[in-house]
Amino acid sequence: MSVNLQGNTISITDQNTHHLANQMLDTQALPMILQQIHQDVIEEYGKGNVADYIPALAKVNPHQFGMAIRTVDEQEFSIGAADTAFSIQSISKLFTLMLALDIVGDDLWKRVGREPSGMRFNSLVLLDSEGGIPRNPFINAGAMVVTDIIAARSAAPARRIEEFIASLSGNDANRIDQLVAAGEQATGYRNIAIANLLKGMGNLEAEVEQTLDCYFKQCAMTMSCRDLARAIECLANRGRSHFKSSFHGEKMDKRINSLMLTCGLYDAVGNFAYNVGLPAKSGVGGGIVAICPGQYSVAVWAPELDHYGNSVLGQLALEKLTFYTHTSIF
Ligand code: DON
Repeated sequence: MSVNLQGNTISITDQNTHHLANQMLDTQALPMILQQIHQDVIEEYGKGNVADYIPALAKVNPHQFGMAIRTVDEQEFSIGAADTAFSIQSISKLFTLMLALDIVGDDLWKRVGREPSGMRFNSLVLLDSEGGIPRNPFINAGAMVVTDIIAARSAAPARRIEEFIASLSGNDANRIDQLVAAGEQATGYRNIAIANLLKGMGNLEAEVEQTLDCYFKQCAMTMSCRDLARAIECLANRGRSHFKSSFHGEKMDKRINSLMLTCGLYDAVGNFAYNVGLPAKSGVGGGIVAICPGQYSVAVWAPELDHYGNSVLGQLALEKLTFYTHTSIF
């Protein structure tokens, strides 16, 4: 790099063949890039552990990998187990946030913050000291408040969430796995504690059991990478969705993408932004969804998790994707 001082003007020339940030995706190269990513990441099998605190997830074959990309002009590219349905877990928090914002608008922010917590996703620490207002809608406490908004205003809230998510992906086969939900309910001691604390501090409208039931069920939705990439298309495409014409996403994409960028991977979000540079949301089923605004949505799945509860291969695959395609937002 050379810096020339000429009078008052400073011109900086980068003499490397350096790429511009956020280039247009070269879709012709994408099939080969996906093959390369697949080949690279499966060498990392064995570097994480499947979530074992949810009984059904402990039984999942750890060595699986799938990835699907959907461009805003409706082209789809995939590799590996992109059509295998898996437990979306915390990725559901993205969909309930869209739905709750659609229902109550900005009133939602009276009950949930918009700051990263720097704590594990199921931490209780800040909730007590911060008066029962969760830091953001993606940690478990914040997601429960968001779910409570839906639960308190609907006769069959879990069904409503299920239908909303299914309609975003255009696939009615996307359903709650009742066995996963029941297993999580039976062992969800931390979540039960969080819900009781929220109720005790006046930040749940519905009964604790009702909100928790709905929360466990939304986490137990099963979807494939392909359907997830379709379901979040609206966040890449200024609120427009090929599958759900009545979704009022227009004003939501900026807000939800910014929350994903700052809170989507919990206490690992800084490193993820540094390495990948896309807004994203993870789940302990091993899925991660991400958005390249104006260009594409992507979903990746590999069940082995790191210490933070995020997919090891999923993070690596997304890092390689933005590296090979030059499509980080930065
Ligand atoms: O509530 C829980 O702990 C799980 N149902 C969801 C947690 C989760 O997916 C966190 N994401 N990485």
